Amino acid sequence: MSTETLLLAPDTTGFARAAELLRAGALVAMPTETVYGLAGDARNDRAVAEIFAAKGRPRFNPLIVHLPSLEAVEEIAVVSDAAREIAARFWPGPLTLVLPLRADSGLSELVTTGHDTVAIRLPAHPVARALLKAFGGPIAAPSANPSGKISPTTAQHVLDGLSGKIAAVLDGGPCEVGVESTILSLDPPALLRPGGIAAEELEAVLGAPLPIGGDASKPNAPGQLKSHYAPGAAVRLEAVQPRPDEIWIGFGADCAGADLNLSPAGDLTEAASNLFAMLREGDAMARRRGAATLAFAPIPETGLGRAINDRLRRAAAPRD
Ligand code: TXA
Ligand code: MG
Repeated sequence: MSTETLLLAPDTTGFARAAELLRAGALVAMPTETVYGLAGDARNDRAVAEIFAAKGRPRFNPLIVHLPSLEAVEEIAVVSDAAREIAARFWPGPLTLVLPLRADSGLSELVTTGHDTVAIRLPAHPVARALLKAFGGPIAAPSANPSGKISPTTAQHVLDGLSGKIAAVLDGGPCEVGVESTILSLDPPALLRPGGIAAEELEAVLGAPLPIGGDASKPNAPGQLKSHYAPGAAVRLEAVQPRPDEIWIGFGADCAGADLNLSPAGDLTEAASNLFAMLREGDAMARRRGAATLAFAPIPETGLGRAINDRLRRAAAPRD
């Protein structure tokens, strides 16, 4: 499908136009507090198929369903007491829960790719919430980037990857969190993807360490595919000093002379929010200077550092 992608302002007119497009089965990129999502009507097979086509996404990777309220969640999924407790604490916010799918959910089977569970998120971003309200139904939305590439944290990033392939982008400015939602399955609890809510915060509520779930050799999550978030340049990790042909992306005060710094103050929240934009910026610098590699300074493996390192390891992974 080739079409001119509209850039919509985050106002009443923009929300109404975006909702109308969704009702017609078209795709609209929307900002969330994590990254921009590629939204389509989760009940419409054709719209969901278009999401996979626009992204070039493998069909075995199910999508996250975005909803406005716990009542809306209960129409689609079975909500246990444990899920309710987590939801009360972290929703709306950068957390996705994998819950048992109800037989009468009304969702397109393409959303869950035939699984008997569904990944659900209540975003906190006011623009996503306004669109959910104007549309009035469940919205399926993966990150709004071509599959395998860097997730978008601005409307321009979305256009760079998907212009001409989707109907519109709602411009909500830069995303505050900057890495995708944490994905948690329950009964028993397992961390399927580190993300915008630190695992430590979930462990504090669950009262036990959170095991890592999923199997990278049999991915049901693209976040679990080894190579993902790939820039054009190669990526080297744990770089305490750059080599001559590298763009050095620092973290903290010890990286004087770095080309870019995820957070000069060493703040992981700031680093997460800068991560994808700096991957893109570093990649553009590398192209301009003929540098082959982006070298990233070490990031501590705690709090949001786990999500950052997870994304960087995938950006650095061998590509097929
Ligand atoms: O922050 C986010 O989560 C963003 C925004 C747009 O909400 N979305 C996002 O979607 O990152 P995506 O498609 O890039 O990643 C969703 C992940 C995938 O890794 C997918 O396999 C996993 O959720 N997932 C979806 N349904 C699942 C299920 N039933 N069981 C396990 N994993 C599931
Ligand atoms: Mg993604």
